[in-house]
Order: sequence, then structure tokens, then C-alpha cells
Amino acid sequence: MSKLIPSGKTAIYPGTFDPVTYGHVDVAKRAAQLFDRVIICVAVNTLKTPLFSGKERVDLIEEAMKDITNIEVEQFEGLLVDYALKKKASAIVRGLRAVSDFEYEFQMALTNRKLCKDIDTVFLMPHEKYTYLNSTIVREIARFGGDVSEFVPPHVKDKLIHKFRDAKTKDGRK
Ligand code: COA
Repeated sequence: MSKLIPSGKTAIYPGTFDPVTYGHVDVAKRAAQLFDRVIICVAVNTLKTPLFSGKERVDLIEEAMKDITNIEVEQFEGLLVDYALKKKASAIVRGLRAVSDFEYEFQMALTNRKLCKDIDTVFLMPHEKYTYLNSTIVREIARFGGDVSEFVPPHVKDKLIHKFRDAKTKDGRK
């Protein structure tokens, strides 16, 4: 029987992760079962203006993944395929939550293939209970004091609370 995904392989799981959610954790864990090594790479030069610095986002993911031995976390900038080649990765992992993700993901996967034909994109579906989740929603709830316990690990929730408390204190001083 031929193997769908060969062993001895490295995959990268890129994203903004601002902040990491249980949905991302779910996808990363699935990837870690399929690949020998998974590098979660935190994009620091996207068009987004993140709430958390690259280092903060890496630290939050590392804590969330601390029990999974074949996952590493790094920051990256530049073209994703260049980074993948540097890391000798054969696949890019992306989560597909709903049909609405498809068009954007399809475009990105084909663009990356055009840029480098040797790297394939592998789509993994997170558990259905996370399909509606994204980082913007989590930030929005936390900003207005809502409870995000169901969406992010406890240390991420604490960091969000501190971040918005600090921002309020700064605003108050203006
Ligand atoms: N659970 C919860 N949320 C999820 C999720 C999951 N399983 N999967 C995706 N999301 C959310 C993210 O939180 C994010 O939400 P937000 O928009 O509210 O922040 C959204 O879905 C999509 O973001 P993400 O998965 O982080 O991707 P991105 O679009 O921010 O980043 C890069 C995409 C970084 C991979 C891409 O821009 C890139 O490769 N950049 C490098 C430059 C490059 O090579 N460009 C050419 C590629 S075509």
C-alpha cells in the first residue's frame, strides 16, 4: 500500500497566530501526528498589524505546545516557500475551517506551488467545534472584557487580559 504522506518529513505550519487559539492547537496536533517534525512559523511581516509582538506570539505557542516533542516554533519573514526550503520542509500545513476559507487558501496554495513546485500544501480540518473561531474574534471579545476561556489556553487568556489592561492604563494616562 502506498503511503499518502511519507515518513521522515518536515512540515511548516505558518500563520499570524495573534494569538494562538485552540483551533490552531488542534491543527498543529494533527500535523504532528502526520509529520516527523512540524515547525510552526509565526509571520512577522504580513499586512496585518498584530496585537502581540512576534516574540510574544512565539512564546504563547511554545507554552501551548510544550508537551508535543516534534513541534518547534519560530518567527519568519519573507516568502513562505523560501523559508520552507531553508527548513527542508516538504509541506505547508493550513487549517480549513469552512468553505469560506477555501478560495483564499486555494489561491495561496497554488501561488506557493507556482513559486516552488516541490512544496505541497496539506489542508487539515480542525475539530468542528472550532470552525467559527479566528484570532480577531478572540481579541475582540477579550478587548471588551468577555470570557475567552473556551477559545484559548489559560496562559493566552491571561496575556490578553494583561495586554488590554496595560492598553487601558496607557490610555488613561493620556
Ligand atoms: N483556528 C482558529 N483560527 C484559525 C485557524 C484555526 N484552525 N486557522 C486559521 N485561523 C484564523 C487565524 O486566526 C486568522 O484570523 P484573523 O484573520 O482573525 O487573524 C485567519 O484565520 C487566517 O489567518 P492565518 O491562518 O494566520 O493566515 P494569515 O492569512 O494571517 O497568514 C501567511 C498567512 C502568513 C501564511 C501568508 O500571508 C504568508 O505566507 N505570508 C508570507 C509571504 C508569502 O510568502 N506570500 C505568498 C503566499 S501566497
